[in-house]
Amino acid sequence: MTVNSSKSMPPVITIDGPGGSGKGTVGQRLAWKFKWEFLDSGALYRLVGLSVMNHSVEMTDVARITELARNLDAQFAVRDGEQGEEWIILLEDQDVSDQLRTESCASAASQVAQYDSVRSALLERQRAFQVPPGLIADGRDMGTVVFPDAGLKVFLTASADIRAERRYKQLKSKGIGATLSAILTDIQARDDRDRNRVVAPLVPADDAVIVDTSEMSVNDVENHVLKLAKQRFRQLENIG
Ligand code: C5P
Repeated sequence: MTVNSSKSMPPVITIDGPGGSGKGTVGQRLAWKFKWEFLDSGALYRLVGLSVMNHSVEMTDVARITELARNLDAQFAVRDGEQGEEWIILLEDQDVSDQLRTESCASAASQVAQYDSVRSALLERQRAFQVPPGLIADGRDMGTVVFPDAGLKVFLTASADIRAERRYKQLKSKGIGATLSAILTDIQARDDRDRNRVVAPLVPADDAVIVDTSEMSVNDVENHVLKLAKQRFRQLENIG
């Protein structure tokens, strides 16, 4: 089915899946290619997690955490980096892009993400990313909760071992220290929390295309999702 949504809301492609499944890299690359907006929803939860740690708030203090989520002073910006343009994320005017990628932020993110009130506080902020000419949204509940009417929903999976290895290489390339076994333990704990929580658990939408990326390179995954997007959206037919 080809969707031409030019007269209604801007088109959305959701890419959901567990950490390390490749959704962030692939989503960003395709967003650059299409010149569409990109939403890294995990970064919002990581920002709330970081805020909780910065303000020494207890992980059980749901009211305070919700307040932090509601008043999050965060900005997403693009700057010229060593390898061309890159995304940076500011929290209260501080560049926290590298800090957000650490496992302690990831773990804090998955703890605050369990609270319904925190998720509600971030909902409109996420939906505001749906602007012309289109949006690629990456997360856990993009296709199930935030953009249930998305024209294309993709769910990426990969084994925990492979995802831990990918994360290890990613952190190492950024000079962030970590051990493979610690990353695997964190990933498994996070998977467990994300899949079994009561609100917006990590599950594919009924109409999602499920892609196991365990044996695929990032380029393979990108090409696969590109093909699906071109089949679904007429305005992307001529993208190379
Ligand atoms: O995608 P990323 O690894 O940055 O997400 C960090 C954490 O934020 C996830 O483990 C998950 O608990 C939470 N998250 C979520 N819903 C989203 C995106 C992320 O609950 N849409």
